[in-house]
Amino acid sequence: MPTRRTVLSAAAVTAGTVAFTGVALKPMLDRPDGKAPADVPVADAVSANAIAIEKFKLAMPVPPTLTPYSTFDGVDRYVMTMRKAKKEIIPGIQTDVLTYNGQFPGPVIRAKQNRAVQVLQFNGLDDPTSVHLHGGSVTPENDGGPMDTIAPSDFRFYDYPNKQSHASLWFHDHAHHVESEHVYRGLTGTYLLTDEVEQALPLPSGQYDIPIQIRDAAFDDAGQLVYKMNDFRGRQTVLANGKAYPYFQVAARKYRFRIVDSSNLRSFTLQLADHSEIIQIGSDGGLLTKPFPTNSIPLSPGERADIVIDFSRYPVGSSVVLENTNLGGGTADTLGQVLRFDIVRTASDSSSVPATLRTLPALPTPTAQRTIEMRMDESGAPDAPAYIDNKVYDPNRIDQSVKYGASEVWTIKNVNTFLPHNFHMHLVQFRILSRNGQAPGPAEAGLKDTVWLMPGDEVKVQATFDTYKGTYLYHCHLLDHSAMGMMATYKIS
Ligand code: C2O
Ligand code: CU
Repeated sequence: MPTRRTVLSAAAVTAGTVAFTGVALKPMLDRPDGKAPADVPVADAVSANAIAIEKFKLAMPVPPTLTPYSTFDGVDRYVMTMRKAKKEIIPGIQTDVLTYNGQFPGPVIRAKQNRAVQVLQFNGLDDPTSVHLHGGSVTPENDGGPMDTIAPSDFRFYDYPNKQSHASLWFHDHAHHVESEHVYRGLTGTYLLTDEVEQALPLPSGQYDIPIQIRDAAFDDAGQLVYKMNDFRGRQTVLANGKAYPYFQVAARKYRFRIVDSSNLRSFTLQLADHSEIIQIGSDGGLLTKPFPTNSIPLSPGERADIVIDFSRYPVGSSVVLENTNLGGGTADTLGQVLRFDIVRTASDSSSVPATLRTLPALPTPTAQRTIEMRMDESGAPDAPAYIDNKVYDPNRIDQSVKYGASEVWTIKNVNTFLPHNFHMHLVQFRILSRNGQAPGPAEAGLKDTVWLMPGDEVKVQATFDTYKGTYLYHCHLLDHSAMGMMATYKIS
């Protein structure tokens, strides 16, 4: 294994190397578009990466699909162990991470509608953990709440009924106040739920249907992950499926990619380097009603984009980089490239993207309205308090009481002047009715569980609470913000 010195010196003479010194980072702001007024306070010290990273040296792995240990009785039963591991995130370096089953990111569960899944989660870590299936319609006892934790060396079962329609879900830690660090260190995984509607479509499948978790990270000079609360500017390395700036070999045909932004704070806007077409086919809660051809995919933490890229337009032997144009807090060199697709062979392709993907039911007449205000201290301090409706999270307080069966319109406001937030609700998939008074764009017109809010934004969403009763969460999915208090509860009864 190369020493750090050889890695650094080799990297220093290689074009395409990213080097960080931790100095001279511009006081840019945590806005997802990277644009901000110049006079906003910049607070804490920045833990910028102190290590050089050569790009496109590691292959992007496809996280393995987990095999059930039992399929008896109409239930697929899985076992997962949360444990520490060392992974090669940066070429030649072993980095300590937290994992599900030793995988970074975690393994993939593929589930089918109306076929239950049960996951035995064993906590082999030193801290309490809690596993939340993000976007899942599950009972409160199985929701992985912040206080409903698994002690170290203990285990519990999570039951997922999978009654909802197909969706690209993901699971991650949610233990109170430590979820942000746990997720940052690796406790995330993918959960792909399918149904007959989706199965009937000729979309790319099998080895051409690839989950990708994209996130940022900060490393010290030994290549170890650095976690500091609210350290947006320090996290200057982009990881795709747990590798820094990897390459991914593809055939010259169509692929489907299920992308999740698993960052704590960072939003991305993805594009291909040649600005060519990406077809967005789905979002958080499954397929859009019709494909949306675009060249730009914005994603905030927790959001998913289901996309199709047709590599048949590229000659075998060529490459195209998946770029990020949302450089908030960094540069094109550090944050502008995500991964490189290398077109290495031809392959037959009988897949296609039909003009109609699904239908969505008309929204019922709303029975209640509420307004939710998101705000946090903008000093940038590591422990800056963060509020929903001027309150920090209290697990013993019910913030909204919802009648079982109600269909409600929630108006969400980000009242900060330069900090972005987003809004995630547990249990339900909602519809976006409007963003700042305008109808939602095509990428936001489907089922959603997380919605991005730029400073000053006001978004109206409608959700129907007709599945389970009990207490659930809503929060900002910039997880450092929710750990700082930007989380609240609603009770359906
Ligand atoms: Cu993705 Cu409350 O979580
Ligand atoms: Cu926030």
